[in-house]
Amino acid sequence: MKVLKVYLEESPLRNFNYIIYSEVNKNAIFVDPLDIDITMPIVKKLGLNPKYLINTHYHADHKHHNQKLLDEYSVTEILFKDLEVFELSSSEKLQALYTPGHLDPHFIFKLIQDDKAFGVITGDVLFNCGIGNARQGDVNVLFETIDKVIMKLEDDLIVYPAHDYLVTNLKFAQTIEEKNEIRDNLLKEKLAIDDKVTHHEVDHTIKDEKEINPFLRLEKYQDIFPGLSKKEIFINIRRQRDNW
Ligand SMILES: [Fe+2]
Repeated sequence: MKVLKVYLEESPLRNFNYIIYSEVNKNAIFVDPLDIDITMPIVKKLGLNPKYLINTHYHADHKHHNQKLLDEYSVTEILFKDLEVFELSSSEKLQALYTPGHLDPHFIFKLIQDDKAFGVITGDVLFNCGIGNARQGDVNVLFETIDKVIMKLEDDLIVYPAHDYLVTNLKFAQTIEEKNEIRDNLLKEKLAIDDKVTHHEVDHTIKDEKEINPFLRLEKYQDIFPGLSKKEIFINIRRQRDNW
């Protein structure tokens, strides 16, 4: 199984679009298709079959080209329940995990090759060094999703987020946790090339995110937020990020 990560230069929301495809049968899954005018030529050039459509959730910037895919390419839309598995081939599978809070429903998708998960499509729940907002969801539910689902993902999964907010998130993280060498080095590295690129990509694992992402480091923040529970710290940081 391969994952194509396509940054949509025209999107003001800094979206990535993902194509997941089988190396066995060349069938391709469009994930949250915002702009198939960009991704379809890539799929065609690689000789893949545009076959399936999945969505993490149904915000406009994630479902924008759903109908176009269904009408013009007769793709099959796959709808998931929590923990449901879809077989792209006998050795290549996706497993959906129900992750509401940013919006309900919302799913993330574990990518499984030969019975071992190697990555996770995280939609608008988990970004690099940040998480999605809860403006149209519920921050209490989002906390449960992060605490009970995201924190329990295998450490070596590669994170495939739906947006590039890396530099902004790294800068915000500095306002919460003053010193963090890994984070500060990453920001320095990214700022050094900032004026030459439109976006940033990192192949972070869940473990990498736990080193820098404030929303995955709540247990370490007892000194910063004395007397607050993990959930109260989470809500506090989410509110600060909303107003930052
Ligand atoms: Fe969203």
